[in-house]
Amino acid sequence: MSATSITLTRPDDWHLHVRDGAAMASVVPASARQFARAVVMPNLKPPVTTAALAAAYRERIQATVPAGLDFQPLMTLYLTDNTPPEEAERAKAAGAVAFKYYPAGATTNSDAGVTDLRKTYKTLEALQKAGLLLLVHGEVTDPNVDVFDREQVFIERQLIPLRRDFPELKIVFEHATTKEAAAYVAQADGYIAATITPQHLLFNRNAIFTGGIRPHYYCLPVLKREEHRLALVQAATSGSPKFFLGTDSAPHAAHLKEHASGCAGCYSAPAAIELYAQAFDAAGALDKLEGFASFHGPDFYGLPRNTARVTLKREAWTVPEVLPFGDNTQIKPLMGGETLDWKLQP
Ligand code: DOR
Ligand code: ZN
Repeated sequence: MSATSITLTRPDDWHLHVRDGAAMASVVPASARQFARAVVMPNLKPPVTTAALAAAYRERIQATVPAGLDFQPLMTLYLTDNTPPEEAERAKAAGAVAFKYYPAGATTNSDAGVTDLRKTYKTLEALQKAGLLLLVHGEVTDPNVDVFDREQVFIERQLIPLRRDFPELKIVFEHATTKEAAAYVAQADGYIAATITPQHLLFNRNAIFTGGIRPHYYCLPVLKREEHRLALVQAATSGSPKFFLGTDSAPHAAHLKEHASGCAGCYSAPAAIELYAQAFDAAGALDKLEGFASFHGPDFYGLPRNTARVTLKREAWTVPEVLPFGDNTQIKPLMGGETLDWKLQP
């Protein structure tokens, strides 16, 4: 008989975008309701490039957490060509956990990203020494490389040389989307792990084109072929400590996604843990959800596991189609209007 209820250690989200200002106030409660901690991405405009900016951002986030919810933002700094090596120690002293590497131009607000990793080598040395992590957006930006191949080319051109030069730098391959990334991380040593999003476990690239172009399924790295989705499900449900939960929930106003040049990002926060439960259940692997959602992340980051517990019940519910977002705009969550089988109990 299939389970009707599962209880897990309270999960964390190891990759989250919450934006700032009024938009932030409308999305933080959704994550705080489900997760104890979240690694917050620094791709604001302007980006969070210093320890001081990260500390101020953390305070603004904390001010939007509803009373009675226990939610800790884990801060990251945006790596640029000009990040001074001393920023690593300042970041550590301010309680930040990682730097984020965006290849310049790879995605939303990445213009200030790194143009050539070699320019950052002194800072990477300082990160390695400070024990801070490097979180990578693993896609090359070379316009001659097909959009669907940019992740696997990144592994060859950038990740392998980077790991050779910094063998003791802890790296998270964020939002892995291909069988090549899953295989690379699975076979590598203990200094690299990967996050996997709910959309890359649940959908392949057909979702973007079914019955017309569907912008709410567009994110970066873009959804891939079914063989890649299957490899990601296998990795996430394998029990390997190298794979853990990172939603990459990336809120954009609906009108900016339903646009001639629509923004990349799926807003999964309102149903995040339920979306993962759906994917793990479909793979017959609900018993592997707790490791992926609650243990492997803190273990890799060197942080304590949570002690509180949460319960999901097998209970059909419909994800809201539209939610208020910021000042008088709306947002459409991932799988809005569709039914999920698992519901987090309040
Ligand atoms: O789809 C995405 N949206 N991918 C990213 O890497 C950035 C994110 C965003 O900030 O909107
Ligand atoms: Zn992201």
